[in-house]
Amino acid sequence: MADARAAGLNLLRQHALIAGEAVTADKTIAVDDPATGEIIGHVPNLGAAETERAIQAAHDAFGGWSRSDPHGRARILRDWARLIDDNTEALGALMALENGKPFEEAKGEVAYANGFIKWFAGQAERLIGETQDSPLGHVILTFRQAVGPCALITPWNFPAAMLTRKLGPAFAAGCTAVVKPASQTPFTALALAELAYQAGVPKGALSVVTGDAATIGGVLTASPLIRKLSFTGSTPVGRLLAEQCAPTLKRLSMELGGAAPLIVFEDADIDQAVAETIKGKFRNSGQTCVCPNRVYVHASVADAYAERLAAQVARIPVGPAFDPGVKVGPLIEDKALDKVEDHLRRVTGSGARVLTGGERHALGGRFFQPTVTLGGDDTLFRAEETFGPLIPVFPFETEAEVMMKANDSDFGLASYVFTRDLDRAMRVARGIEAGMCGVNTGLISTAVAPFGGVKQSGYGREGSIHGIDEYVEIKQATLALR
Ligand code: SIN
Repeated sequence: MADARAAGLNLLRQHALIAGEAVTADKTIAVDDPATGEIIGHVPNLGAAETERAIQAAHDAFGGWSRSDPHGRARILRDWARLIDDNTEALGALMALENGKPFEEAKGEVAYANGFIKWFAGQAERLIGETQDSPLGHVILTFRQAVGPCALITPWNFPAAMLTRKLGPAFAAGCTAVVKPASQTPFTALALAELAYQAGVPKGALSVVTGDAATIGGVLTASPLIRKLSFTGSTPVGRLLAEQCAPTLKRLSMELGGAAPLIVFEDADIDQAVAETIKGKFRNSGQTCVCPNRVYVHASVADAYAERLAAQVARIPVGPAFDPGVKVGPLIEDKALDKVEDHLRRVTGSGARVLTGGERHALGGRFFQPTVTLGGDDTLFRAEETFGPLIPVFPFETEAEVMMKANDSDFGLASYVFTRDLDRAMRVARGIEAGMCGVNTGLISTAVAPFGGVKQSGYGREGSIHGIDEYVEIKQATLALR
């Protein structure tokens, strides 16, 4: 593992990238390894002037890139994907270092992230228009044209996949981009950008600006040259960005918070439900906006489910990213642990029992024990996502009751249902107020599936055949033919 770590550090660049130019600054932001708190590097703390420069570069590059042959853009995306595949170990290691996720999982994220580049390379070749006869005797042609220079603001929990899920369709459509990665995990974005330039992405078409989120976000949202903003992060920040974009009427995609319900009916395969709950919940150590936030289990099987779940959760290996076999890593920062503790205190205060875990981990630092509780009041978990390794299980009696609880939330990102009854599965999948529903599975994320939410979880869809629509305008030309 020492080799992997060294390969990761080999990709670490302590500068931002403005139109391909390495930019440094006197003021910097330290990036640490969440497992140890040790500083692994610094990035420049850039401000308004550098952000304006990146925007201007994206604007200047837009004409050429957006009018370039989409098959050429597809070739560049495929070359980028090949470079990413070739660098899987090093990118995975770099991500493990700055995010803390287990190395094996980080390599899995590289493959997931690259799935978007590969998928959208194909979509670039399918920017298909239509013809239609008009009642006025004309022929109407439609073209799908790039929206314009985009601002892409990405989170720390999936430093590679959230970047490629935006850049893949943006480049396929012919958009240029200014990326603002999360300050906790900027190095993966910078490494991916270097590979993008190597693959042939024009320098001006991609900048990665590091620094204070409020300053950079303020400039990106205010600029009339930026025509679209795509954001993945919290609902309050998404709301603020949307407000800031209102005066310039930008196109928006908002992938925001969730409070995913996971429902296990009495006829479910309990072992499968337990295994899938664990897979869904502990991705990125529970710091995933689609991971189950509240588990509802029919009262007749609640004890059996919770006992089996707790027994397996108790055996999950916790540790630093490069320890062999580790499945759960540290949380991203200290306040994340405070939140898990607060949620735990509140659910046990309402009558829940802790079946396993329940404390900070003996490893210290930012490690928390994977935890399962049973019972108590679920209200908190409808309103707030824990974003940590806590699974609160709540028994329910009827389908109507559990659907009311599942839908009584301002959020509507992911949801999950476990049942062998196809009618019920379809009823729940259609009736649940969420953008996504896993039926007998805890894993719903892939490049080919539409990803996005409803209500306060945001709007727009990423990935799938729909993802590129967020980056194109439909233009019509009406032809009067003789
Ligand atoms: C997220 O947590 O923002 C994304 C998770 C995923 O892509 O599955």
